[in-house]
Amino acid sequence: MKNNIFRLKPIRDLLQDNSEGKSLNKVLGAFELTMLGVGAIIGTGIFVLTGVAAANYSGPALILSFIISGLACAFTGLCYAEFAAMVPVAGSAYTYGYAALGEIWAWIIGWDLILEYAVAIAAVAIGWSGYIVNLLEAVGIHLPKALINAPGINGGVVNLPAMLIIGVITSLLIIGVRESAKVNNIMVGIKLLVVVLFIILGVSHVKPSNWTPFMPYGWKGVFQGASIIFFAYIGFDAVSTAAEEVKNPQKDLPRGIIWSLIICTVLYIIVSAILTGMVPYLQFKETSAPVAFALQQIGINWGSALVSVGAVCGITSVLLVMMFGQTRVFFAMSRDGLLPKAFGEVHPKFKTPVKSTILVGIVTALMAGFTPIGIVAELTNIGTLAAFIIVSAAVIVLRRKQPDLHRSFKCPFVPVVPSLAIIFCGYLIYSLPRITQYRFIAWLLIGLVVYFLYGIKNSALSEKKETIQEEYAS
Ligand code: ALA
Repeated sequence: MKNNIFRLKPIRDLLQDNSEGKSLNKVLGAFELTMLGVGAIIGTGIFVLTGVAAANYSGPALILSFIISGLACAFTGLCYAEFAAMVPVAGSAYTYGYAALGEIWAWIIGWDLILEYAVAIAAVAIGWSGYIVNLLEAVGIHLPKALINAPGINGGVVNLPAMLIIGVITSLLIIGVRESAKVNNIMVGIKLLVVVLFIILGVSHVKPSNWTPFMPYGWKGVFQGASIIFFAYIGFDAVSTAAEEVKNPQKDLPRGIIWSLIICTVLYIIVSAILTGMVPYLQFKETSAPVAFALQQIGINWGSALVSVGAVCGITSVLLVMMFGQTRVFFAMSRDGLLPKAFGEVHPKFKTPVKSTILVGIVTALMAGFTPIGIVAELTNIGTLAAFIIVSAAVIVLRRKQPDLHRSFKCPFVPVVPSLAIIFCGYLIYSLPRITQYRFIAWLLIGLVVYFLYGIKNSALSEKKETIQEEYAS
């Protein structure tokens, strides 16, 4: 039993970890959590990828792609909310897997989340760099090509702005959560304002003729578009990674998750309808800033410039929450001994996990500086979808194994809702390119090697005398 890969971490232990010294500062409420969620959600997806999806896959049916992805996230979000309220401990899906399915699954989810967050951080930072370079060019400042692109792209040597923004965000997170949440709130406010501004300016310029043909690439295109635009929803799960810093997690976590998802879904559906109504979908092939581009096309240049500034702010706050989430997953995994202990240490003065924050900062900055955006971006979705599937399955499993556990928020209609989450996310994985699926499998295999060489021996559970299995076997 000592090295049983299916050993479970009891919820009682999980909650105890939280109260034993190694815990984080509790400063967040429902409002901050919702802002944290919106901060992580609205970013590169809506500001950049809408154009890619509309032009190449969905056409004007972009709105359907958004609804399909939104449903996948809504079903999964309810599962996340149940877990987050029950196990309000840093680590999110990773921690839930540990409680419900066993260590090996927890490891797989954790490894998967590392992929999700790390590559998303790199992809989003590269997107940020593109926007800031555009804005600087608009005011006449031209940076050398060698310093704004990854090697092999457009004469690039290193993407310096992408690395710099990661450096700034890393420093903010080291200083502390309260400060970061404040900065986040301001940036989310600006981002919401520019999205609403776009809606107000754009709505009267919609030409219904642009909506036909509605589905130029058929249903297959709509689903492929959904699997790409899914990126736009990623982030609500980051709310649950902040669990240990929440004042009243049982109530506030489900609220934060559900509210941030509702706000973003409504905005996305409106924006996608207006966007495809303003400009013929094929024109989006020409731009990497479709929202600003659409306003330019109708001659509202000041609006376009404002939206660009807002997009830069918006993408910055995505980075902030993504990095926050990544460091908290590391924190939880190292506390459990699956990763070296150093990453679980909380700095005595700042009360933040300084070492893991610095590690995440360095690795993602290197990726952002030297990797083309395509490679990092396509992997993000598959990693996230896989984690979503495991979390949804874990809800069903834990309901059966531990029906009497106190659940302050219950996912409705179990097992129907989690099963729908699994089906939707599974189909989105299927709709992604094959090469992405192979890369993902390779990443998982590397993870298993790391687990069997390190985690299985160093796991905190392997030191425990009483085995946990018994508690669950009964
Ligand atoms: N949902 C986040 C974005 O759109 C990752 O940038």
